Amino acid sequence: MKRILILGASGFIGNTLYRELNSYYDTFGTYFNKKGYRSNSHFFHFDLEEDGLDVLLKEIKPKLVISALRGSFESQIEAHRFLINHVKHSDCRLLFLSSANVFDTFEHFPSYEYDKTLSESIYGRFKIKIENDLLRLSPSKYVLARLPMIFGNQSPRIQELDNAIVNDEPIEVFPNTIINVNNNIKLSQQIHYIINQKLTGIFHLGSTDLIHHFDFIKLLITKRYHKKAIFKQVYTTNEMRYLAVLAKENKLPQNLLFSYTEILDDLTPTKKDF
Ligand SMILES: NC(=O)c1ccc[n+]([C@@H]2O[C@H](COP(=O)([O-])OP(=O)(O)OC[C@H]3O[C@@H](n4cnc5c(N)ncnc54)[C@H](OP(=O)(O)O)[C@@H]3O)[C@@H](O)[C@H]2O)c1
Repeated sequence: MKRILILGASGFIGNTLYRELNSYYDTFGTYFNKKGYRSNSHFFHFDLEEDGLDVLLKEIKPKLVISALRGSFESQIEAHRFLINHVKHSDCRLLFLSSANVFDTFEHFPSYEYDKTLSESIYGRFKIKIENDLLRLSPSKYVLARLPMIFGNQSPRIQELDNAIVNDEPIEVFPNTIINVNNNIKLSQQIHYIINQKLTGIFHLGSTDLIHHFDFIKLLITKRYHKKAIFKQVYTTNEMRYLAVLAKENKLPQNLLFSYTEILDDLTPTKKDF
């Protein structure tokens, strides 16, 4: 059975991926601060700042490493350089989770797989650095998955909204930012398909349609809560701005494509009491 190592398997996306893949592949994962993994023989403690990856790679011998890490940008860049070199010289591939922010300088249109990346944000520039190292590999060696905002019933974004509603705190919205979205469950199914079909290259994994950030949050709140929200509208530019990754070249099959309304439905199975 194919061996997979998920770096950051205790995190929001990494853990959903672990649950999705675990029954089909020999799946291992790392955790850092989260409790409850110490006695699980498929989980290893890993601290980006202190530990090298060589020991883990030697012990697990994965055919695929999925990187779903956070941590200091400098240490992540160094760890990915090591991983990319490992992948280059072994029978192993790397799947890296990048972000729509690699395009955040281009405000006037959504972005496709082979568009040039350019970012004004520290986060976007950090992701571009790792992407550029990855793109020097043969495309058969990597999956570069660019993600829009990822929601999920237990996600930090939704927990923040729940807290804001309960405590009558203002919710920040971006009225002139146009986004696409995904959730952790649909994203994991898409990544499972990519692995299962041995697809490689660049993938944009988000809803096929677009919506203003403010409208999406308004719809979510109306469907999820009885209470009304207080909004704080944040304008980052005077013009409309896209933060959206759409697929043109590497499209997944129809059953794995969805609209933002399906993401909303998944987030609002029943209305909360508050
Ligand atoms: N969530 C989104 O909307 C979104 C959108 C675009 C791209 N992404 C990318 O997707 C990836 C996963 O994001 P996420 O939202 O799932 O993040 P997350 O929930 O914060 O999970 C991060 C993972 O990294 C581990 N980690 C943090 N600091 C570490 C360190 N110093 N050393 C070793 N491990 C460390 C965490 O371990 P512990 O939890 O055990 O401490 C956890 O397993 C990230 O690369 C992110 O940039 C996310």
